[in-house]
Amino acid sequence: YFFLFPNPVCLCASQKLCQRRDISSWLARWIFKNPAKPVVALKTPIKVELVAGKTYRWCVCGRSKKQPFCDGSHLFQRTGLFPLKFKARETRVVALCTCKATQKPPYCDGTHRSEQVQKTEVGSPL
Ligand code: FES
Repeated sequence: YFFLFPNPVCLCASQKLCQRRDISSWLARWIFKNPAKPVVALKTPIKVELVAGKTYRWCVCGRSKKQPFCDGSHLFQRTGLFPLKFKARETRVVALCTCKATQKPPYCDGTHRSEQVQKTEVGSPL
């Protein structure tokens, strides 16, 4: 912990508390400053078979190379965005959104057919 976030040595409990607060605010600033907008990954949904009880992480940022699921790109590219974690209730084939404009994430709701999405270049924000 201290190896990753070197700070001056603290001498009392209250200073330790202050240090922790400093580190968290620094992390929050680093991660959340100007959160990026999701980008259009594709303009059509991807059909996948979800398995009942299994947890999935749907890509919110649109930068994942493993669409429609997260590959950690949101973190490496410091987007300030996080994947949507969800558990499948039943085993079935569903269409998951890749344009990142759906109003029913992670599922496609047809928004990809809108003029706004169709006019946007893949890899660009809406
Ligand atoms: S792919 Fe996003 S709404 Fe259909």
